[in-house]
Amino acid sequence: MSAPVCLITGTTSGIGRVTARRLAENGFEVVMACRHLPRAEALRDALIKETRNAKIHVVPCDLASLESVRECAINFKHNHPRLDLLVNNAGMLPGRPRLSDDGFELTLATNYLGPYLLTRLLLDSLVASQPARIVNVASNTHTLGKLDLNRPQRSGIFSGMRVYAQAKLAVVMATISLAERLASTTVTANCLHPGVVATNIIPDSRSLLKAAAKLVSPLMLDAERGAKTTLHVALAAELANVSGKYFNQHQRIIEPAALAGDRALREHLWSVSERMVGLG
Ligand SMILES: NC(=O)c1ccc[n+]([C@@H]2O[C@H](COP(=O)([O-])OP(=O)(O)OC[C@H]3O[C@@H](n4cnc5c(N)ncnc54)[C@H](OP(=O)(O)O)[C@@H]3O)[C@@H](O)[C@H]2O)c1
Repeated sequence: MSAPVCLITGTTSGIGRVTARRLAENGFEVVMACRHLPRAEALRDALIKETRNAKIHVVPCDLASLESVRECAINFKHNHPRLDLLVNNAGMLPGRPRLSDDGFELTLATNYLGPYLLTRLLLDSLVASQPARIVNVASNTHTLGKLDLNRPQRSGIFSGMRVYAQAKLAVVMATISLAERLASTTVTANCLHPGVVATNIIPDSRSLLKAAAKLVSPLMLDAERGAKTTLHVALAAELANVSGKYFNQHQRIIEPAALAGDRALREHLWSVSERMVGLG
């Protein structure tokens, strides 16, 4: 039998890097969707040596660009007839307001819209390969999120944490909506909080958040432990039929924010998201 195929975003550092290595060690053919190709290719070469799994590939993907996401999906499908596991791991927390090339608030574009489009474009591959799993890396910060889809670009004074929380709330809500839509299949969709992990998640070295994160970094999980929940949701045999759930950093299913339980809001989010990424 051929190896199961997994596509994972954002493997050039932190939780994604460890997750990719562990999946390769577990016998997956690993496709790493990354925006910085030289860094991703160097990592691929290192992982091939470390894991002795030669089936590790890189596909270009900038999640902040809808065009790049579309090209990534086309590229992937061209080379891989099946997809058993999709891990939407990549994310960022901004220090200052910025717009994506498509004109969306960059945090929303990177953490939510790009992964939403990628997932939608790869759904047919997942369904054709079922049983299959979708694992979305969210954050417990989503509990602070408020969905302002009419004005996702800015709401009052810019706060990186506020736009990040909104994007992660959207991830949690879309995961539940996706699980509902996939109920007649054996493709599952779950999301998780990895814990507070010492990584490069705050890219702007001048931000106050970066300084605060540095101060408390000795208390944080390392990336190895930060990847535990992603790997559990991706691999645990007992989760084969578990879908639409939110896992905490101890690999337990917990209730997400109350807003995520609002079905009408979820459906509203789904149709607004479709419009934003240009899906009919
Ligand atoms: N660290 C935490 O405490 C924590 C807590 C809760 C949730 N999370 C979530 O965990 C996930 C992994 O983050 P991490 O902590 O491991 O951070 P990280 O070390 O900064 O890794 C983030 C990864 O995402 C990639 N990425 C960022 N923007 C991208 C884009 N536009 N297109 C493609 N890839 C992009 C980065 O690639 P580049 O190398 O190109 O920048 C990097 O590989 C994220 O979804 C994050 O929100 C983290």
